[in-house]
Amino acid sequence: EKAGHRHFMAKEIHEQPQTLAQVIDAYTEGDRIVPPVAYDWAATDRVQMVACGTAHIACIVAKYWFESLARLPVDVDIASEYRYREGPVGTDNTALFVSQSGETADTLAALRYARGKARAIVSVVNVAESSIARESDVALPILAGVEVGVASTKAFVNQLAVLLALAIRAGVDRGLVDAAREAELVAGLRALPGLVSTALGIEDRCEALAHELAEASDILFLGRGPMYPLALEGALKLKEISYIHAEGYAAGELKHGPIALVDQSMPIIVFAPKDGLFDKAVSNMQEVMAREGKVLLVTDARGAETASDGVWQVLSMPAVAPVFTPILYAVPAQLLAYHVAVAKGTDVDQPRNLAKSVTVE
Ligand code: M6R
Repeated sequence: EKAGHRHFMAKEIHEQPQTLAQVIDAYTEGDRIVPPVAYDWAATDRVQMVACGTAHIACIVAKYWFESLARLPVDVDIASEYRYREGPVGTDNTALFVSQSGETADTLAALRYARGKARAIVSVVNVAESSIARESDVALPILAGVEVGVASTKAFVNQLAVLLALAIRAGVDRGLVDAAREAELVAGLRALPGLVSTALGIEDRCEALAHELAEASDILFLGRGPMYPLALEGALKLKEISYIHAEGYAAGELKHGPIALVDQSMPIIVFAPKDGLFDKAVSNMQEVMAREGKVLLVTDARGAETASDGVWQVLSMPAVAPVFTPILYAVPAQLLAYHVAVAKGTDVDQPRNLAKSVTVE
């Protein structure tokens, strides 16, 4: 049932080229984005996204996409905060809930708070028969198949794919993405499963590095723009399965506090594809190297060419247009956490104190 893998998590990481292709197929028709359940974004003035854990991190990525592709303002909340804050929900707001299980108690309670106030309740779920799906006006499936490992992997990647498809669709509905751009984005989406497959090729290097990373008591993850939520995801994955303390930070925030932690014993993992924010990320990386921090740079070939000096290790990823990097960089976040956990000998699929589905608040 683990298809020859040691853990469900490994199996689920390796399934991603197929599960991603499946969801992209379900959300596209020819050159167009056509979600399986229709929703018109033209009348929405703001999106409130609410979720927990990894699903919440997917929402932070989605904020970058909705704001840039559809010029729609997005608020992202942790469900346990949103539900008790009793914030205003406008009648033209779309309330969007993301949940793999569709049963997370706080997310469900947040949905019930928004019901009757928002223009519509939209959910992005893996389990189609779940409570969250049933109580939504529009329930959009992520089609990742059953996810057994407590650490969410393929569900995260498929949540991202659906949220990107919705952001593109919102851009189309709002007249900001024309047919040519839509076709270009759809072609880019269709190329992603192959790139994820190539990215999985870094696994041996992750395994080799894991032994040294497993010695650390604290690890910092840094990124800018949509690589900031990926840094959060890398840190969340690592702490939940390896029990190593990890923090994800927006690289530009480093000098506002966390840089005080940096010394030669702290590995710092930097997600920095060669995009418009690359130079800024590199200058933050140099700040930590000047304090003897041990940097693992995750970038593409062009990034590696320009910024490898003084770096401890480089992981080279396939190059892809900036809009797609969050989906691709989920792979190193997962593989590093997985191999560090294996090196530490923890129970990867059933980490202590955690449940797959959190149905109590
Ligand atoms: O089922 P949900 O997506 O609502 O679950 C939300 C979180 O509990 C979940 O993503 C959790 O953070 C994962 N264990 C992270 O890997």
